Amino acid sequence: MDQKVHIFDTTLRDGEQVPGCKLNTKEKLHLAVQLEELGVDIIEAGFPISSPGDFESVSQIAKVIKHATVCGLTRAVQKDIEVAAQALKYAVRPRIHTGIGTSDFHIKSKFNSTREEIIARAIQAVKWAKNFVDDVEFFAEDAGRTDNEYLARVVEAVIAAGATVVNIPDTTGYCLPDQYGQKIAYLMNNVPNVDKAILSCHCHNDLGLATANSISGVISGARQIECTINGLGERAGNTSLEEVVMIIEQHKHLGLYTNVKTQMLNPLSREVADIMRMPVQPNKAIVGSNAFSHSSGIHQDGFLKDAQTYETINPEQVGAEGSKIVLTARSGRSALAYRFQKLGYEFTRNDIDFLYEQFVLVADGKKEVIETDLRKMAEAYVREKEIA
Ligand code: KIV
Ligand code: ZN
Repeated sequence: MDQKVHIFDTTLRDGEQVPGCKLNTKEKLHLAVQLEELGVDIIEAGFPISSPGDFESVSQIAKVIKHATVCGLTRAVQKDIEVAAQALKYAVRPRIHTGIGTSDFHIKSKFNSTREEIIARAIQAVKWAKNFVDDVEFFAEDAGRTDNEYLARVVEAVIAAGATVVNIPDTTGYCLPDQYGQKIAYLMNNVPNVDKAILSCHCHNDLGLATANSISGVISGARQIECTINGLGERAGNTSLEEVVMIIEQHKHLGLYTNVKTQMLNPLSREVADIMRMPVQPNKAIVGSNAFSHSSGIHQDGFLKDAQTYETINPEQVGAEGSKIVLTARSGRSALAYRFQKLGYEFTRNDIDFLYEQFVLVADGKKEVIETDLRKMAEAYVREKEIA
């Protein structure tokens, strides 16, 4: 039987940390409702101790969301945990996400501490959080650069202390997919109590590998992916929700599934881009404006014969407007005929041969040949034919 990958959305926390993307409570609440509708399993609503505004956002979201788990981030600090517990008081399914850096960079440079002391602090934080909620997720910050043997000891200790989920973040986006997958496999094979918790992938995109690393993680046994709409997040961003969901959807042989309603992916991507004032790059997978556009003659000809020659995802499946045949100087005759036909002109092959000569001249001078250009060309051609 297929196994579920839990989708942990952190658009409202890691995504919202992006400079310029800050949201007020009303905006966060609005997006949280959309995310629940999308079918994510966990909504990381914010970092309650970070500001009174974020505390208020997390409390409001906790009151309104009924099906998804609502999660608040904390450091491994008692006060943080108490404040998060307070913000999550009315949640139907509250989760506290607490943690500490486990790589030697973090242990030495950030905490001026030792590996043993960090394990003790991790255990303390999880135990403290368990006083308030049953569902406690622990993050081993910079796990991507943490030595696997030590990481396994941390994971075992926090699970023994009551963690229900253990997050293995590649905080700096450093790992290769193989390395990250092997890290998860190592933990699955070397942590004696690993069956008592879910391992979670939280990958950053500094080398453009966040999606690949997360997928490698679930192939190795992790069952939660932390991700954001449009891949928003610190620096180069987080794992993109739409990408991991569609990879799992497209590659059924992985034996995995998510509960995400894929038809909502494009509409919600646009909404997040608008609210956060952070446009999506046109070539972004699944939700970019060019994700279903075909512009070269070779591709257009194949696509018009059978869409599957150049598309493996049906745009409707992800709520996109539909495939587009875009006309540029690299486009061919089939595409030109198709676009004229769409405008109501029934030209013969000879007509198209003639019009194509004009088309490439116009196209060479422009980025894209648009509807008005086509109408002008067609009308002039029809008039000439009538006179002749
Ligand atoms: O990237 C990271 O390590 C994080 C943690 C706070 C989970 O965002
Ligand atoms: Zn992060």
